[in-house]
Formats: sequence, structure tokens, C-alpha cells
Amino acid sequence: MRSIAIDGPAGAGKSTLARSLAQKLGFLYVDTGAIYRTVALAVLRAGADPKEPGQVIPLLDGLDIQMDYGPDGVQRMFLAGEDVSREIREHQVSGLASAVSAIPEVREFLLELQRKLARENNVVMDGRDIGTVVLPGADVKIFLTAAPEARAERRLLELRERGQEADFETILRDIKDRDYQDEHRPIAPLRRGPDAALLDTTDLNLERSLEGLLSLVKEKISL
Ligand code: DC
Repeated sequence: MRSIAIDGPAGAGKSTLARSLAQKLGFLYVDTGAIYRTVALAVLRAGADPKEPGQVIPLLDGLDIQMDYGPDGVQRMFLAGEDVSREIREHQVSGLASAVSAIPEVREFLLELQRKLARENNVVMDGRDIGTVVLPGADVKIFLTAAPEARAERRLLELRERGQEADFETILRDIKDRDYQDEHRPIAPLRRGPDAALLDTTDLNLERSLEGLLSLVKEKISL
């Protein structure tokens, strides 16, 4: 099985690019952020504080999280049988996901689920620690990033397209806070591994970014 690991901060274009890449290659696209978001939603619904490991850890055993792919190939997340794919995208869930993802037991709990997907399928997997922790043996490792302002601008457009109102300064602050949390947590912090190729999309549109991504992939595996 082949695996392509794409890591980087929120809003660098990871999910859109990883999904397009997977489609082009006929690989399964695995959005690991969606899994953390689903855990965060479960914690929220249980009325627990996502920043409190003592409240989150006891919930893990009873968690019923399922992942599925629709006929359109889009990854869907289910919590106790309910499709929560839309709800986990809400702005509030982003911060909570970052908080639960800093808990080592949560990461450990999700590790096997992610590895199993890569054992059974050719995957393009995106997240924060895929090349460094989840799939250290990935065939291709890419660190995708962009300036915080460019990422905030993209997130704003994305939210507006979904009919959600938001303002640039708030989004920029949230992005910087989340970067800080993700980069400074003691376990599996967001960082570029020494063997990951860097792709900075600040000045690249989607098409150019995908070209850049494809050429990095072609350097490593023959398609
Ligand atoms: O990519 P995203 O915004 O959907 O991710 C939500 C949060 O989950 C993010 O703040 C960091 C965390 N995350 C993680 O710690 N490890 C991953 N592999 C993916 C996401």
C-alpha cells in the first residue's frame, strides 16, 4: 500500500488539496482533523470540558465514532450513528478539537484507527502529525503551509460560502491561537519533520498548489 502524508496548520489548503490529489491518484482521502473534531463534539455533547483530561479520558471507552465514504467519495463522520459531518465544521468545534487533540490519551486512542486505514488502503492522509507520528514510513511526506493572513482570508471565504458570518480579525486571532496550541503541545506537536518536503501556498492559487503537490509526489513515487 502507498501512503502520502500531508501535514500543516489550519487553512493552508490541506484538505482541498489532499482531496484533489487523492482523486487524481485514485487513493482514499483521510481527513484526520475530522476525527478529532468528532471527538470534540462528543465531549461537548457530554457536557465535559475539553481542556480537562480528567473529564475527557473517561469518555473515550464509550465513544462510538464511525467513518464512511459516500457515493460521491466524500468522507462522512458519524457519532453514535448520527451523521455529524456538517456540525463538526462549526467554528466553535475547531477550538475544542485543538484542545482535545492535546490530550495524549486521545491521540493514542485514534492512532490505531488511522494506521489501520493506511494498512488497508492507498491513502492521502492529512493532519498535523501524520508524517512524524502516525505514518512515519509514508512514501511521501509533505508539510503544507501559508502565511496566517492568507489562511485567515481563505477561512473567511469558506465560512461565507457556507452562509456563516465571521470577521477577518477574529479568524486571524483564532488561527494564530490554534497554531500556537498545536505547535506547543508536548505530544505530537505540529512541526515539519526533517524528511518532509515544504510547500508554501501563500502566493499560490489552488491549481498551482496542486501542481506543486503533484510534482513533489512524482519525485518520490512513480505513478
Ligand atoms: O485540520 P482541522 O482544523 O480539521 O483539525 C482540527 C484540530 O484537530 C486541530 O486544531 C488540530 C487537531 N488535529 C491534530 O492534532 N492532529 C491531526 N492529525 C489532525 C488534527
